[in-house]
Amino acid sequence: MATASLVLSSCTEGGADAAFCVIPMPNSLTAASGSYVLPGETAVSLPEEENAQKVFRYLEDALQNTPIALKAVPQGTEADIRLATDSTLADEAYRLEADREGVCITSNASGAGWFYGVQTLLQLLPPDIYDSSQTFAGTLEIPTVRIVDAPRFPHRGAMMDVGRNFLPKEEVLKFIDLMASYKMNVFHFHLTDDQGWRIEIKKYPRLTEVGSHRPRTQIGHSDYYYPRRYDNKEQRGYYTQDEIREIVRYAADRFITVVPEIEMPGHASAALASYPELSCGLGKTYVVRDYFDVFDEVYCPKENTFRFLEDVLTEVTDLFPSHYIHIGGDECPKKAWKKCAHCQALMKREGLPDEEALQSWFIHRIEQFVNSRGRDIIGWDEILQGGLAPNATVMSWRGEEGGIEAARQKHRVIMTPGVRCYFDFYQSVPEEEPMAMRGFLPLDTVYAYDPLPAALTPEEQAYIIGTQANIWGEYIQTPEHFEYMAFPRLLAMAEVQWTQPEQKDFKDFARRLDKEFRRLDLRGVNACRNFYEVDASGAWKEKDGIYEVDLHTFCPDAEIRYALNDSVVTATSPLYESPIALTEDAVVYAAAYRDGKPLGQVKPTAFAVNAATGCTYSYSETPDLGDLCDIHSLTDGRQGQARDHHRWLTFHRDTMQLVLKLHRPGKVSKVSFASLWRPWNTLWPVRAARISVSMNGEHFVSVADSLLTYDFTPTEAVRFPVSLCFPEVEATFVRLELVGGGPCPKGYYNEGKNSDFALDEIEIY
Ligand code: ACM
Ligand code: ZN
Repeated sequence: MATASLVLSSCTEGGADAAFCVIPMPNSLTAASGSYVLPGETAVSLPEEENAQKVFRYLEDALQNTPIALKAVPQGTEADIRLATDSTLADEAYRLEADREGVCITSNASGAGWFYGVQTLLQLLPPDIYDSSQTFAGTLEIPTVRIVDAPRFPHRGAMMDVGRNFLPKEEVLKFIDLMASYKMNVFHFHLTDDQGWRIEIKKYPRLTEVGSHRPRTQIGHSDYYYPRRYDNKEQRGYYTQDEIREIVRYAADRFITVVPEIEMPGHASAALASYPELSCGLGKTYVVRDYFDVFDEVYCPKENTFRFLEDVLTEVTDLFPSHYIHIGGDECPKKAWKKCAHCQALMKREGLPDEEALQSWFIHRIEQFVNSRGRDIIGWDEILQGGLAPNATVMSWRGEEGGIEAARQKHRVIMTPGVRCYFDFYQSVPEEEPMAMRGFLPLDTVYAYDPLPAALTPEEQAYIIGTQANIWGEYIQTPEHFEYMAFPRLLAMAEVQWTQPEQKDFKDFARRLDKEFRRLDLRGVNACRNFYEVDASGAWKEKDGIYEVDLHTFCPDAEIRYALNDSVVTATSPLYESPIALTEDAVVYAAAYRDGKPLGQVKPTAFAVNAATGCTYSYSETPDLGDLCDIHSLTDGRQGQARDHHRWLTFHRDTMQLVLKLHRPGKVSKVSFASLWRPWNTLWPVRAARISVSMNGEHFVSVADSLLTYDFTPTEAVRFPVSLCFPEVEATFVRLELVGGGPCPKGYYNEGKNSDFALDEIEIY
């Protein structure tokens, strides 16, 4: 295992130090004084291998905005940059040695090491070489350095979902090129889903004639509007086989393998809209879906379906030379199979005890076909249910458990747990972000991920071949938004994939990323800039009996300036030096500054601080927790908003009792709380509330009792605040007895089913 020989000093503008901002962090880097300036005609000596030519062409292209002209010369000839071969190096490992005489990049003959050496070399050069608006005017000076480097994992991926919303080929190529810069090597191309089929299949033209477009798309989040709203804008697009070949070639030129995903047996609406005879319910009309959910319409495991899928996979394996073919396997409801005479007869004939076993049978059969084409399948972790296919690789997404189980069964695993790897999750405080799927996955959480679970032995860990970022496209309709979700988190993921844990350090990563934003800008990447903004988080400090707000920015060397209840923040606003104590409701406005200049937007964060804030409580029913919740979140000083579930606790019983212990005995006269109306989530507001108080926690006296009615009919999610006021009374304990919304009303989703209720922020005055 490589170790760093030098802890680098911090980057400064210009000079040799600034050069060492390589992402992902190399595993060994030794710097010395001196440098080498590339001459106007830079000779590059190349070994015979075709891949050396490929790397040369890539470098030539990367330097096109500079006055430098590259000239290829044979090995053994004097050269400014030498590509050398060392057969003892592992695949993808490289050495980069630069001194006053020139640069040498060494790889084994597979050549990936040359490519990664060139990526490191390019990051040693000024970002401005990527400015295509003008020819770079400075010198290309390479500091003296010896880098010995190799990746931690062989699978370093990112997934682009074009099934939900098509993205143009140009964006696919741009993303692949960016992946290459950060030494990633697998582009997972999610090509089919309920909302679109995006790859031309010659034998089945209706897949694209019918399956690649829909007349409209839901507006807003799936759960937000009731009834759903639609944009009435046609969404269409697919890649021709020529375009697919171009994408595969472009990626191969960057040592990236494209792994296609053809979803089965679920997420098949677009295919069934094209060929309804592949479903269980012949005669039913299927449509390309215009909203986002998990749908009951799935492939029926009958002979014509397998013929279809084998034909599709034949064309797919002809187009994609990847060893792996991803066949999906996730989120396949079994409702259609349960009702289908063919499916039930098949289960009987094959001795399959249940529909999970039928799914496993389905995947086994597809695996046999893919294996017969000389390839192996990857499937989402649901393919474990009913028994893993013998050669399958598992992509673990519902946490790490599936991956752990598969590794114990000696199957290869790619770890992509949602909470660490799903880049459709929010990357910053959700209230201030463009709509995302859900979740909360900030840059430092991505960075901290270690894909090797401690629960596995070293032998079992060896089955974990890597990790990847999954960028699901439900709420991503444009290239700009795709890039916003991908960057800069992709760079943190690249370091998770490449760099040994001993070399990882988030502070140092942030220092390098601060410089790298310039390169991303010049390459036209619409990266999220929350790196330069301030997040505020509040917590009750039991020791001091006080509620404190911490302000934080990722950006190194930044000052934080803030104002309370005033949106104007300037370079002379109070400097944040230590946590801010709050004793009442406040909005904290904050921004990051450097050298007196604002680095990003002023961001507001609202806190609700009252007698309940930070109080502990007991509850009669254990709730489900939103993405930004823990069990204490009912009194965490942050109110849940209607737009998402982040701060809400959901209770599944019709009645619930909660007893809060106040920090100290005191007078109370008002209790507030809010519940949520979101019919798609079966969430209806609280119908009745009773408030009681006690001094000893045993004998309670009722002080307020109210039936709650809501006298309008909303059409979008609503937060219903309620306040119960009563004559001032002394209390140490406050009890809330709440009655939920009862059965979902007639005409609504889950009509007649008992509703749940979501609560947030209990406030006491
Ligand atoms: C998945 O996120 N459904 C794999
Ligand atoms: Zn069926």
